[in-house]
Amino acid sequence: GEPRGALALRGKVVISVLFLLCGWGRGSGQIHYSVVEESELGTVVGNVARDLGLKVEELPGRRLRLGSEESLRYFAVRLDSGALVVSQRLDRERLCGAAASCVLSVQVVAENPLQLFRLEVEILDLNDNSPSFPTAHRTLRIAESATVAARFPLESAQDPDVGTNAVSSYRLSPNSHFSLDVKQQPDGKLFPELVLERALDREEQPEVQLVLTAVDGGSPVRSGTAQITVQVLDVNDNAPTFDRTTYKVKVPENTPVGAVLLRVNASDPDEGPNGETQYSFGVHTSDSVRRLFALDPRSGEVRVSGALDFEESRFYEIYVRAHDGGVPEMEGNCVLQVQVEDANDNPPEVLLTSLLNPVPEDTPPETVVGLFNVRDRDSGANGDVSLEISPDVPFAIRSLQNHFSLVTQKSLDRESTSQYAVELIAQDGGSPALTTTLTLLLNISDVNDNPPRFSQPSYDAFLQENNPPGSLLCTVSASDPDDGDNSRLVYSIESGQVQDAPISSFVHINPDNGNLYAQRTFDFELLQVLPVSVVVRDSGSPPLYANVTVYIFVLDQNDHAPTILYPASDSDVPAPQRVPLSAPPGYLVAKVTAVDADAGHNAWLSYRLLPQSTDPSLFHVSLYTGEVRTARAFQDSDMAVQQLLVLVMDNGDPPLSTTATITVALEEAALEESFKPQDFLAGAKEKPDLTFYLIIALGAISTVALATVTLLVARCLRRRGRAAVTLRPTDSPSQCYSTCFSPGSERSDFTFLRPCPTPATLPRASGAFLPAAGTLRDRGQVSGDAGAGPALPGAPTARSPRGARSGRAGSRRAAAARGP
Ligand SMILES: *[C@@H]1O[C@H](CO)[C@@H](O)[C@H](O)[C@H]1NC(C)=O
Ligand SMILES: *[C@@H]1O[C@H](CO)[C@@H](O)[C@H](O)[C@H]1NC(C)=O
Ligand SMILES: *[C@@H]1O[C@H](CO)[C@@H](O)[C@H](O)[C@H]1NC(C)=O
Repeated sequence: GEPRGALALRGKVVISVLFLLCGWGRGSGQIHYSVVEESELGTVVGNVARDLGLKVEELPGRRLRLGSEESLRYFAVRLDSGALVVSQRLDRERLCGAAASCVLSVQVVAENPLQLFRLEVEILDLNDNSPSFPTAHRTLRIAESATVAARFPLESAQDPDVGTNAVSSYRLSPNSHFSLDVKQQPDGKLFPELVLERALDREEQPEVQLVLTAVDGGSPVRSGTAQITVQVLDVNDNAPTFDRTTYKVKVPENTPVGAVLLRVNASDPDEGPNGETQYSFGVHTSDSVRRLFALDPRSGEVRVSGALDFEESRFYEIYVRAHDGGVPEMEGNCVLQVQVEDANDNPPEVLLTSLLNPVPEDTPPETVVGLFNVRDRDSGANGDVSLEISPDVPFAIRSLQNHFSLVTQKSLDRESTSQYAVELIAQDGGSPALTTTLTLLLNISDVNDNPPRFSQPSYDAFLQENNPPGSLLCTVSASDPDDGDNSRLVYSIESGQVQDAPISSFVHINPDNGNLYAQRTFDFELLQVLPVSVVVRDSGSPPLYANVTVYIFVLDQNDHAPTILYPASDSDVPAPQRVPLSAPPGYLVAKVTAVDADAGHNAWLSYRLLPQSTDPSLFHVSLYTGEVRTARAFQDSDMAVQQLLVLVMDNGDPPLSTTATITVALEEAALEESFKPQDFLAGAKEKPDLTFYLIIALGAISTVALATVTLLVARCLRRRGRAAVTLRPTDSPSQCYSTCFSPGSERSDFTFLRPCPTPATLPRASGAFLPAAGTLRDRGQVSGDAGAGPALPGAPTARSPRGARSGRAGSRRAAAARGP
């Protein structure tokens, strides 16, 4: 217990003092032992007793023992031999760590006398530890871009052993990229480092497995290893690469929008974003390509996105760029050559270069009137154009390669066709063929190639004499099939002289409408027919003319009373006609002869005995001949001188009349030889000049009549069937005329041309005409035999003007003959 403890404490102090003394006393003569670590228990470290100079036999008395706790833990002193033995396992590394020397201090205490001894036990190292790495499996991340000779420190291996037993070297497993460099620190520690000998390529070898071995210097050698995995980190060192640098594709031009042309494919061996490829158009890509093609940025599909047109462009180059998602990004390029193939999608075109429109109608055949060419934007057969012209037009096509000319093929006539629709049909050689039709409306322009034409070959105008000036005579009309000015007509009268006066003083024409007017009052007795030559002219350049004759017939009016030729009324006392008393009834006493300056009805004379005569019952006057004959035999009671009043009346309306006075003297002695009835003319011998002229007139009238009849026949035959009468003189049917031979004497020695009364006119005459009606009709037949045709009632008008003219012509001649 406690006493012992107190004693121990006291003893310690004492021992310490002693120890100090002893130690002092012994100087540096300290006992040093060494023992290898890990020695077996009981291993003798040294003989303390002997080394301290103690005898074995005194040992129990000296109660030799170890003095400190520490010493006691590992060592023990054998009292029988005084040896210091290992009493517990010694681990140098535990006791001294990494210290280079490991010395344990051991105190030995001896009593009787108390003595303190100090020993040193050095624990010698034994290679009992292998080197070891803190991390057995280590991963190193190295970018593939790491440069050669780059260093990467590795963990050092630990070895608790010291000295040569500590880590003395490192080894690296063989590999193609790294070497090992070991640096020695001033304290002798070794630091291993990886050195990059050859550039890494993740794409080639994404991972390098290394084994690092640490070796100590003990014997036997001990080693430790560490597994090192080098992960090669990706660097964007690969550009996307296309399968091909040039893609070629052919596509028909009518490919629908949206169709896939092809798919470009670029690959990038890099990892992650560095290998994610996106497609886009290259910088050189033209706008038209961007418009017509679409590129899918992910898939690389190229689609048609617009209407391809071979004719616009037949070749496209699409520059495609592929880039990855690295930073900085890398790119690859390729070209996509698109060849557009033709489809027959363009109809041919007809391009008019020039066209003569309108075409003058006098254009001669084979004249070029139009130039044009054809075009088809397609190529090959699709662009081969043939051209045709519609049939039935007087034009043709002449070709010279792709140039065509339109030529006239026949002569043109605007008056028959003034406009042609010329169809030009262009057709290409595609299948199916496309056609284009161009319709040209070709106008034919007028040329003054048609003279005006009058509607009739001649015109007849009828005008009552004594007309007021300015009356409308007739209207001539002409037409001109030309156009415009070429058909604008101007009428005029051809100048000339009529009866010593210019014709313009007779008639006047409206230049615009062809109305012909009388300029003066006409006198039938002076002028019966006026032929007027009317000229019509168009306004073309040069103008064309036509002329026509207008016959103006002046119609008679009953403006002249009959004139008595015989018996002469100019002598105051007419010579009496001598008649023998013995004259039988019917004896020709005298013949009243009268003429009328008028014509036709107006000149048709009738003779009547007026009751104012001395004895009207004694004489009879022939109504038409004017022959005065005795009505009965004379009687003695009859007065010797008879005064006869003969009324000579024309057939005008109203009629005009004159009276002739004949004095008849009845005589006993007949003077037969000098008063034969047939000696009427001879009886006029007192007036030889009159007789002479009458003979001439007779002859002339006969000749003219014959000529007129001949002419009449000719004209009637020619104009048979023609019913055009421009101007009717009047509406009365009594205007029907025919050629009649007037009765002369019984011997037909005096012929007149005069109007032939139709039966309708007869009742209008006085009753005195009636007995002669049958005679008249007979005469009408005579006139029919003469060629003028019978004047049939009801259908007379067609031919009547001719007859009238002829009749008047005859009368005129007669008038002219008797004029003086
Ligand atoms: C792209 O090209 C690569 C390499 O040539 C290939 O492996 C891949 O299958 C292609 N992709 C397509 C979509 O063709
Ligand atoms: C052709 O004639 C028509 C009518 O006749 C006319 O409208 C057109 O303008 C003319 N064309 C030419 C080119 O003269
Ligand atoms: C009138 O016509 C005739 C024949 O038709 C011709 O000979 C004559 O010259 C013409 N006169 C004029 C003025 O044109």
